[in-house]
Amino acid sequence: MIHFYVKSTKGQTSPDINLSDLAGSAGRLDIISRCINSALWLSNAMRRDVVFHTILHGEPNPPIYIRIEGAKLRKVQPDERNISIFLKKAIERFKDGKEIESTPGIFVSRKSFEQLIEDNKEKTFFLLSEEGKSLEPLDKVKYTDAFFILGDKEDLIDSEIAYLEKYKLNRVSLGDKSYLASHCITIVNWLNDKI
Ligand SMILES: C[S@@+](CC[C@H](N)C(=O)[O-])C[C@H]1O[C@@H](n2cnc3c(N)ncnc32)[C@H](O)[C@@H]1O
Repeated sequence: MIHFYVKSTKGQTSPDINLSDLAGSAGRLDIISRCINSALWLSNAMRRDVVFHTILHGEPNPPIYIRIEGAKLRKVQPDERNISIFLKKAIERFKDGKEIESTPGIFVSRKSFEQLIEDNKEKTFFLLSEEGKSLEPLDKVKYTDAFFILGDKEDLIDSEIAYLEKYKLNRVSLGDKSYLASHCITIVNWLNDKI
């Protein structure tokens, strides 16, 4: 499995999401939807070996953790609006105290970034950052437990990076230019496809 985590700095945590204002009142859920598209879709197929993670940090009920498992995902279409509808359903079905499978392949629960990292500590973390070491194609073995971490419109904050440094962390760069998070995911998937 290949894992992607994208922090949603301001993603709305109540289900009354205005699907016509994903980039505004919904706290840039458009970015998360595009990242999900990049992580999981091929032209005529899904990437069944990818798991996408996000934590919504926006008001009024943060943090809400959403995980999308490519192997189990059903019904969702790749467009931004349709993906957002499924994020909305996940938030609607969220219950404190237990993880819910809101729709096939989409899981929602209360979880902090620190807990997510702890739960995945046996994997190899790669923090995508302009200032990192150039990301070279990994070999297949390394990809099977890779957990890539990205910011949305904003980078991770210092305390999150300091927390990650307690684990096996690689800071990796795709170059000096600042790319959209969704584009970074496409590049990482492309590198993996070349193996
Ligand atoms: C739109 S960028 C965030 C803001 C950006 N760092 C800036 O200063 O404008 C979204 C995320 O994509 C990743 N990213 C963007 N460009 C990158 C690059 N050249 N190499 C590695 N990661 C990159 C980082 O994880 C970043 O947090």
